[in-house]
Amino acid sequence: MSVGIDDISFATSSFYLDLQRLADVQGIEADKFYQGIGQEKMGIVAPDEDVVTLAAAAAEPLLQRLDPQTLDTLIFATETGVDQSKAAGIFVHRLLGLSPRCRVVEMKQACYSATAAVQMACALVAREPQRRVLVLASDIARYDLGSSGEATQGCGAAALVISARPRVVEIDPWSGHHTEDVMDFWRPNYRATALVDGKYSTKIYLKALKQAWAHYQEVSGLDFDALDHICYHLPFSRMAEKAQLQLAKFAGTRADTETLLARVEPSVRYNRLIGNSYTASLYVALVSLLDHSDEDLSGTRLGFFSYGSGCVAEFFSGRLVPGYADRLHRERHQSQLVSREALDYEAYLRFYGFEVPTDGGDHSFEEWTRGPFRLAGIQAHKRIYQPRS
Ligand code: CAA
Repeated sequence: MSVGIDDISFATSSFYLDLQRLADVQGIEADKFYQGIGQEKMGIVAPDEDVVTLAAAAAEPLLQRLDPQTLDTLIFATETGVDQSKAAGIFVHRLLGLSPRCRVVEMKQACYSATAAVQMACALVAREPQRRVLVLASDIARYDLGSSGEATQGCGAAALVISARPRVVEIDPWSGHHTEDVMDFWRPNYRATALVDGKYSTKIYLKALKQAWAHYQEVSGLDFDALDHICYHLPFSRMAEKAQLQLAKFAGTRADTETLLARVEPSVRYNRLIGNSYTASLYVALVSLLDHSDEDLSGTRLGFFSYGSGCVAEFFSGRLVPGYADRLHRERHQSQLVSREALDYEAYLRFYGFEVPTDGGDHSFEEWTRGPFRLAGIQAHKRIYQPRS
């Protein structure tokens, strides 16, 4: 019996900073960002947006296509948790009107955890095929102002329904893993921004890719050319190009550079506009590939490389189901992106500097977001989420 992705969508914030603005402030050429790291814009959350509102917005169109009562489990993957104890997914559970019999849990391992969630959801469904699992991956990437990571910020959420006889991607039962205790990127509990050893992190990413691929190849018996496209974790778009070329060399394909890069390009288009969305980014890459492919990819096998600093990596694959194109939410994704508002640098700094008050008082937040849900305020340390009327 096949299991995999039955539906998938993503959402991002209502605001962005064009990296030209950052280049102007830093006195450098914007091409360092546009070409050097392959990023044009980065999604910036307003004070009334967070991982809960983004995740609920990503899931909303999926819920319009299924009976919410049939969801058995919600797994929320994030490294931008809003509480040390309560799973952010419980707020989403209420906003979406899910059944009290739908259990909720939150998972963390940097940018990798959504893939663990997807694999666990597949295992649950394989055991009881009538189950449906909602996987939500939602993150806000934040680095220190003036740091080399600043241009690789961003935000986004992906929502996936995992089911038996899926209508988008049948996920293969084999995958390759790599785990290694390294400090390439991390965020101690007392910090709002990540610490990163940037150049080292890119080297570890590529090392983990080769290790996970070697394991994948061993267990699957498939070679590189069996995969028509590969979606990569996207800290920034050029990382996928580097990964594709290194993996192709390591795996010994004869495909030329132009062909190899053309196979990656459709998967990075959304990321260029929203920036790093950490654990959501791999799944935003899949949506981008499907939304931007001119040809029908039915029946083709896709590779997926998931990487979470620290680090855990996984290489897995799946086949696109005939008719998948009818399940896409392309127009919604594209209209969401074109309706975003550009921030000037001062407005970016104001949003960047916003902190949820910690005094235990009652605070209402101004309405900024154009998304379907908002963080309306905080009362006695409790976050108040509401649908936007
Ligand atoms: N025109 C065109 N290209 C230009 C240019 C210009 N005017 N100026 C510079 N460039 C090119 C450089 O030649 C370089 O290209 P190559 O990579 O091909 O050498 C590229 O732009 C980047 O320039 P630098 O190497 O000087 O960039 P940097 O020092 O500012 O750092 C970075 C880049 C390390 C990625 C930094 O942005 C960073 O630390 N980011 C956060 C960490 C990160 O994203 N790591 C990725 C792996 S870890 C992971 O994947 C988990 C996660 O999500 C965080």
